[in-house]
Amino acid sequence: MIIAFVQTKGGTGKSTLAQSIAFSRGIAKAFDSISIVEMDPQKTLNRWWQRREENRFPSKGVKFKHISSTDRQVILKELEELEQSSELLILDVPGEGISKFHTQFACAVADLVLIPMRTSTNDEEAFVDNLLPIITRIVDLDGETRDVFHIVPSFTHPLINRQNVIDYFEDLLPDFIHCLNATFSFGTAFENFSRGGSNLYEYANSVKTNLKLFGQAKKAIIEIETIAEAIIHLR
Ligand SMILES: Nc1ncnc2c1ncn2[C@@H]1O[C@H](COP(=O)(O)OP(=O)(O)O)[C@@H](O)[C@H]1O
Ligand SMILES: [Mg+2]
Repeated sequence: MIIAFVQTKGGTGKSTLAQSIAFSRGIAKAFDSISIVEMDPQKTLNRWWQRREENRFPSKGVKFKHISSTDRQVILKELEELEQSSELLILDVPGEGISKFHTQFACAVADLVLIPMRTSTNDEEAFVDNLLPIITRIVDLDGETRDVFHIVPSFTHPLINRQNVIDYFEDLLPDFIHCLNATFSFGTAFENFSRGGSNLYEYANSVKTNLKLFGQAKKAIIEIETIAEAIIHLR
């Protein structure tokens, strides 16, 4: 199975979600082997993974691969090879400007496309201009309305009513784009966990004696596990 985090706008939480979902307990239960595949030339996750290795964090069941090629056939071949040894591939796709090559590629190959998006006019207009035409073309070509494309409401207020946000997006979106039954709220733990190469769970463990940080980390973990559950439900 291939899951892709896609959003042509940068800074919406794609890489953070890819990092966190790959290590979530729910995903580990559902899939024996996972590969995080970074396609972003900025190499955010590549640097994080290098730090994981330097600091000898155990990554059992989770592997990492950076793909730098922009040749469709080459990337397809690399993904096929990874699928030999990984039940789940998680693609971290760059939020790119003009060509949108990776976005188009990921939308076409992934079984599940997760689109982190804020409830903001900015994000919504950017979505309509950039991502919606790509998705519409794929759905038209496919001739069927696949259950592939899902918004993940991102950077929501921690106390927001989840169902209200879901209803908001369901009303806004065409019927071939859904809203995941989960939200990705704004939280300091998400900003801080990856320093030194740790994942969210290792970070929580490292701040155990600081009640405030540990509380924030636990909330972040619950949220990620809820997103993981929603993903597994769609499998
Ligand atoms: N839920 C969140 N709450 C607060 N900050 C976040 C959250 N998710 C990500 N961030 C921070 O926002 C920035 C952009 O996130 P990132 O995942 O790199 O976005 P993208 O991959 O879409 O460009 C990073 O500095 C990250 O630490
Ligand atoms: Mg990113």
